[in-house]
Amino acid sequence: MTFTAPITLPGLALDVQWYRRAVFYEVLVRSFADSNGDGIGDLPGLIGKLDYLQWLGIDALWLPPIFPSPGRDGGYDVSDYAGIAAEYGTLDDFRDLVRQAHQRNMRIIIDLPLNHTSDQHAWFQAARAEPDGPFGDFYVWSDDDERWPDIRIIFSDTETSNWAFDEKRRQYYFHRFFSHQPDLNYNSPAVHHAVHEVVRFWLDLGVDGFRLDAIPYLYESDEGNGEGEPQTHEFLRQLRRMVDRDYPGRVMLAEANQWPREVAAFFGSEEEPECHMAFDFPVMPRIFYALRSQRVDDLVDVLSETTDVPPGAGWGVFLRNHDELSLEMVNEEVRQAMYGWYAYDDRMRINVGIRRRLAPLLDNARAELELAHALLFSLPGAPFVYYGDEIGMGDNIWLDDRDSSRTPMQWTPDRNAGFSTADPGKLHLPVVQSLVFDYRNVNVESQLAQSRSLLHWVRNVVYVRKAHPVLGLGGLAVVPTSSPSVLAFVRQSAGPPAAAPAVETTDAILCVFNFAQNPLAVTLSLGEWAGRPLVDVFGGAAFPAVPDDGRLTLTLGTQTFYWLAVR
Ligand code: GLC
Ligand code: CA
Repeated sequence: MTFTAPITLPGLALDVQWYRRAVFYEVLVRSFADSNGDGIGDLPGLIGKLDYLQWLGIDALWLPPIFPSPGRDGGYDVSDYAGIAAEYGTLDDFRDLVRQAHQRNMRIIIDLPLNHTSDQHAWFQAARAEPDGPFGDFYVWSDDDERWPDIRIIFSDTETSNWAFDEKRRQYYFHRFFSHQPDLNYNSPAVHHAVHEVVRFWLDLGVDGFRLDAIPYLYESDEGNGEGEPQTHEFLRQLRRMVDRDYPGRVMLAEANQWPREVAAFFGSEEEPECHMAFDFPVMPRIFYALRSQRVDDLVDVLSETTDVPPGAGWGVFLRNHDELSLEMVNEEVRQAMYGWYAYDDRMRINVGIRRRLAPLLDNARAELELAHALLFSLPGAPFVYYGDEIGMGDNIWLDDRDSSRTPMQWTPDRNAGFSTADPGKLHLPVVQSLVFDYRNVNVESQLAQSRSLLHWVRNVVYVRKAHPVLGLGGLAVVPTSSPSVLAFVRQSAGPPAAAPAVETTDAILCVFNFAQNPLAVTLSLGEWAGRPLVDVFGGAAFPAVPDDGRLTLTLGTQTFYWLAVR
């Protein structure tokens, strides 16, 4: 497979707010490409696929943890923060990845689980063996398991308590996630020091930022519920000051699966910023809800609420990732409806969520896949594509835990989907061979050969989005519509719309999405934009101008959308 010459984005290298315009791609190194035939994806394998990612238009990669780890939680159980897991390669391979990505104007952010370590980490082993030693207070110890009963259990399918007993130290330790992941004790200055050293180590290696895993949970307190405690925010303000001072242009991205206001708190304020970016957990499940309920009111509410963030802050918008589709941040009625639509088989559920990939969730319906992506690429913030979703990869609900949607990337119809030359039995996870999503049908090579494939469609949207910076940088104003199934908003540059500019510019884009499972006509109230001509940004066709009374009627096919530039 060869790819066309790179498209470079002049000035990106100097842009400290690059992350607000970038298109991100979450890539599991373990499952992307295996260079040495041991059945496990690795860094040289990923380097070999950078041309593909560049061709797709990706600006930045997010790598889930690549550190040494016993691998009992997909690497989120770190046993050494200053190395690379041997099966992925070496620190030199990592330097090579950063260099080769940067040569292609592509950035690398890595995952950093700072809330907890693996119980195999040397810090924890020392803390168990020597309670009075230098690591004695690195973790959260207690003589009983009674403290903080209000702190919820996140991995509710596997854990019954947030405390576990350590036989050696004869005390309980606190853990927010699996019991093999003890929480670090942020009340210890030595932990702060150690964590800053880790952050500097990777920034010195050239990474462009971090996804801050499970960041709400750093501190616990007797008053709060252990999510976004004031001291956690204070820690982030300090970390941000250090990063901005010593490493300008690098980003901190919050993984905070919380309600809108709580997530937005991780941006901090203009005067006292915390994270540069935060994942938009509130909006994500509501996209899936709208697709089946054919109603957009919840989406409208949450969009109206979450767009108000400090200048320079950016959302990370996503449809799926390596975890379950979390239903924690919806009410019980919505949750039950979503289980009914999307997780009708018990095997599809895990904890408070659904462990399936995008294409199977949407029953492989092309119109829905296009509608969902069109929304992903036009919401405020940077879109994150989960590896394989660009070709509509399937999942395997017979695998354990969240491995259902972490199977090897499907490159070709050949052995192991072109992921690896290993004996198929040796792969760390089997390739998908289901009726609908078998790798012999769904793979990059065959979609490259089909001009109307999902892959080409997604790439096209990526490029159209990147040609309109307002989609990354602009604000969002919801447009009232006459239909409960139609979502409409205008993405526009800051400030009032410029009156009749001398040159034609796109300072605003009207985005309209029909979530109904039938065609319809809808009237939009576009008072502010009365008289403006509209042009389809994909094909360039002129649409009727917004009438003088601001009431624009459009017809939309089943689950279709428009992106119309407002001239
Ligand atoms: C985050 C990760 C998840 C992991 C958990 C515990 O939520 O996304 O995969 O299991 O943290 O580290
Ligand atoms: Ca390998």
